[in-house]
Amino acid sequence: MTNSPDLSNLLPSFTSAKYWRSGTVPVFARGEGCYLWDHEGKKFLDTLAGLFVVQIGHGRTDIAKAMSEQAEQIAFFPSWSATTPITLEAASLITDLAPGDLDAVFFVSSGSEANESAIKFARQYHQADGRPTKTGVISRVDSYHGTSMGALSATGLKPVRDPFLPLLPGFSHVPNTHGYSDGVEAARVVEEEILRRGPEQVGMVIAEPVQNGGGSLVPPVGYWRELRRICDRYDVLLVADEVICGFGRLGAWFGSEVVDAQPDMITFAKGATSGYAPIGGLLVRRPLVDRVLDSPAGSFLHGATWGGHPVVMAAAVANIGAMRDEKVIDNVVHHASLFEARLDNLAEAHDAVMDVRGTGYLYALALGHSREEGREYSEEDTKRAIYELLPRLALEAGLHLRVDDRGGAKIMLSPPLVATTDDLDEMTERVSQVLVQLAACL
Ligand SMILES: Cc1ncc(COP(=O)(O)O)c(C=O)c1O
Repeated sequence: MTNSPDLSNLLPSFTSAKYWRSGTVPVFARGEGCYLWDHEGKKFLDTLAGLFVVQIGHGRTDIAKAMSEQAEQIAFFPSWSATTPITLEAASLITDLAPGDLDAVFFVSSGSEANESAIKFARQYHQADGRPTKTGVISRVDSYHGTSMGALSATGLKPVRDPFLPLLPGFSHVPNTHGYSDGVEAARVVEEEILRRGPEQVGMVIAEPVQNGGGSLVPPVGYWRELRRICDRYDVLLVADEVICGFGRLGAWFGSEVVDAQPDMITFAKGATSGYAPIGGLLVRRPLVDRVLDSPAGSFLHGATWGGHPVVMAAAVANIGAMRDEKVIDNVVHHASLFEARLDNLAEAHDAVMDVRGTGYLYALALGHSREEGREYSEEDTKRAIYELLPRLALEAGLHLRVDDRGGAKIMLSPPLVATTDDLDEMTERVSQVLVQLAACL
């Protein structure tokens, strides 16, 4: 390859054209553990696990081998009027890990499709239950639930939604937990919204255990318990979007366990295969599944050609097995307070860090001019920091770093779950260098 590969044939996701055309976009050719190498051999530290995905780390030949062996046996059959042994093995493994009686899983290929499936399942459930008007969905401000039209309708990030209005009817957004210290109080807006719309119109509430959009918003204690009480009261299904929080990110197999949530459905994706193959899934409580299957409809009227794809399932089984055998979640739990302490030190050293939020291996650093003086970035500074300065400084520092301007300028830190003390130290040191240079430029 040449120094500047031609990227013009590839239309990227959510990437500014200016940056894509800058000639500085890394082309990653290889990965191992928490590290990536570009096509010229330059080494980067992956502070984002790809995109909140690569829990087990890059470059696992055992997972690649499991996938290739499966492809040799039977590469494809859908979960549609038949299935395959590896699909059943993955279903049993994942439902065994899921909390409570969420013991049926519907497989798809992405987080958006998983949420789309939840929206459709909720409608069918309420129809089966004799309440066909309960089609409405409540989600939260600044949330991200995906890009397909149903999932996008639930998404609360205005810059992502607004270009595509009108979206589906019946979706509304309530404040997220940011700024609340009392869980019951934070959940009150959900009850008020159900009452405002009329409980007979509302079918489901969807929220992430820890909301990524808006910057790793950990809910106050009691929030999810109160959501459960509210949903039970008005016969509304409670859905935990665990596309990011699932598969170890928060220090447990499912984030619901960490925030004391008891959802009716869980959607997951990314970490279930650590990105070795595209996966998504919807976990549903057994009584709800039975209600739909035993209704006149007689089936879940939804399907995906790739759902339960054998090669993807082989990746999931190998990944989950390796995560279990190598105690990857214990690694997160073991390092959680060290990681938090390192980030607190970073904030101590840099007045530009306005806030450190998160838990497990999912953190956000909110940025501004001065925490001490309470001086936020102007809109213009935010744009400059996010679209111009930070991408360049991160590349120079050898970091694959996620920066985000949705709900204020932020750096997201979400490394592979195998990250060790040395990896976390290196990450915070390099981010520290970036922050010094950023402050000098703004
Ligand atoms: C919480 C959440 N839900 C849903 C999605 C959509 O997943 P996908 O990009 O796989 O469609 C994402 C993607 O980042 C996400 O973070």
